[in-house]
Amino acid sequence: MQIRLDRTTRVPLYRQLADQLRRRILSGELPPGTRLPPERRLAAMLGINRSTVVSAYRELAAEGLIAGHVGRGTVVVDPNRADTADARANGVPWPQLFAPLAAALYDPALEDAMAASARPDVISFATGQPAPECYPIPAVRQLLDEALHREGPRLLQYCPTEGYPPLREAIAAWSRAAGIHCTPDQVLVVSGSQQGLYLIARALLEPGDLVAVEAPTYVGALQIFRALGARLLPIPTDEFGMRVSVLEQALQHRRPKLIYTLPTFQNPSGITLSLDRRRRLLEVAARAGIPVVEDDPYRELWYESPPPPPLAALDDAGIVISLTTVSKILFPGFRIGWLIAPWPVVQQLTLVKQLVDLDTNPLMQWAIWAFLERGLLGPHLEELRTTYRTRRDLLAEALRRELGETVRFTVPAGGLYLWCLLPDEVRVRDLLPEAARRGVAFAPGESFFVDPTAGRHWMRLNFTYPNPPAIVEGVRRLAQAITAVRETRTLARHAPAPIV
Ligand SMILES: Cc1ncc(COP(=O)(O)O)c(C=O)c1O
Repeated sequence: MQIRLDRTTRVPLYRQLADQLRRRILSGELPPGTRLPPERRLAAMLGINRSTVVSAYRELAAEGLIAGHVGRGTVVVDPNRADTADARANGVPWPQLFAPLAAALYDPALEDAMAASARPDVISFATGQPAPECYPIPAVRQLLDEALHREGPRLLQYCPTEGYPPLREAIAAWSRAAGIHCTPDQVLVVSGSQQGLYLIARALLEPGDLVAVEAPTYVGALQIFRALGARLLPIPTDEFGMRVSVLEQALQHRRPKLIYTLPTFQNPSGITLSLDRRRRLLEVAARAGIPVVEDDPYRELWYESPPPPPLAALDDAGIVISLTTVSKILFPGFRIGWLIAPWPVVQQLTLVKQLVDLDTNPLMQWAIWAFLERGLLGPHLEELRTTYRTRRDLLAEALRRELGETVRFTVPAGGLYLWCLLPDEVRVRDLLPEAARRGVAFAPGESFFVDPTAGRHWMRLNFTYPNPPAIVEGVRRLAQAITAVRETRTLARHAPAPIV
């Protein structure tokens, strides 16, 4: 394929590449079904970074011109496909009108993992969901009943954008018990911490701004930052969390607009930032005047001993915005989370939230308030810790039994995930379709890194959603899939060279 890139113009290389591919697709030179070269190969052919090719492919995927599939690569889309034909029937080429948002969401491996996960015959280690068997449904049913009976229409009206005032007070009190000095007006209730993260990013970032993130980190955060046009600065992690010394060095010549971190039972790695590093991170960030976003959904889910204090509790400089959610400790369906931040930040984010959804569902806010006020959360957390500790240990045991030295992992001290390293000859891209065929799904490591190649041998296994028999059977299927991929690779290595 002839592609000419001009390094002397100001047009970014990925745009030039996307433009040339688009022209050929639209002219029919690359007809539907044409398989585009794998990202790495095209990057090598053109002498550019793989991330440049990834960005170009993302743009074309967002326009509906190409689609990526694990196992089949990236393919030019058939314009007669039902959805494309529908778009034309409406008189406008919809996919080409969209702003480049969907490009940030282009992650075929993750899409395939989630699609497999949704199949009823598949045991899913892929999601980030709590155990549905532990949802306190009778208590919630009673609270919702009481809410409608006592408060009636009031909870079906709009409520203040900042949140239902009694809930803000209860959250402030709960946070103070965790050592975070805050008042109710520093609390902003949000519709899930994903929304909180979006509000923060929307309020603080402009296209081109740099955001420091851990490598690996939460995929939903990467998507938001990318969607808003931010550039990402990955900071490596080890068994004590983010390597703050590397961040410190980077700050000598780079200036991120914010630092995004998951210091406690990280998603996906399960790692917790040590107390020393927490203090160091805050010192470094305060000296440079850079806000720190502490995303903290897993803090209460500890299985040995409570984790070190949140960054927000150690922050004397007013630089931390902390985010929490009930999604992991109760259930995700209510869409209730909150952030705690210095008051001017809450004020600004409230303006942004007004644009997004006016307010968070007051009925659900009332139920969470009552759950906290009546002391129901403490015993519920105790039950979760016991259930999840057992499931975590069961998963670790099953992996050791079925796979022995083939996989490497550290048993996490809390959270929902076990982060697992596969042998060199097993790439998650090859394993995903094989696993799906055998009825098991996991989250591919590539999705959690700024540079996806860093995650090609990692998989994230959730141990809270599948029940114990499913965990045991799921690992058995996974082990079979890994063996099958290894055998295929070995056969491929020993296949006779083609006679040319
Ligand atoms: C680190 C992190 N932040 C945010 C979220 C999203 O949470 P919510 O359901 O509250 O939007 C998740 C969910 O997996 C997460 O792991």
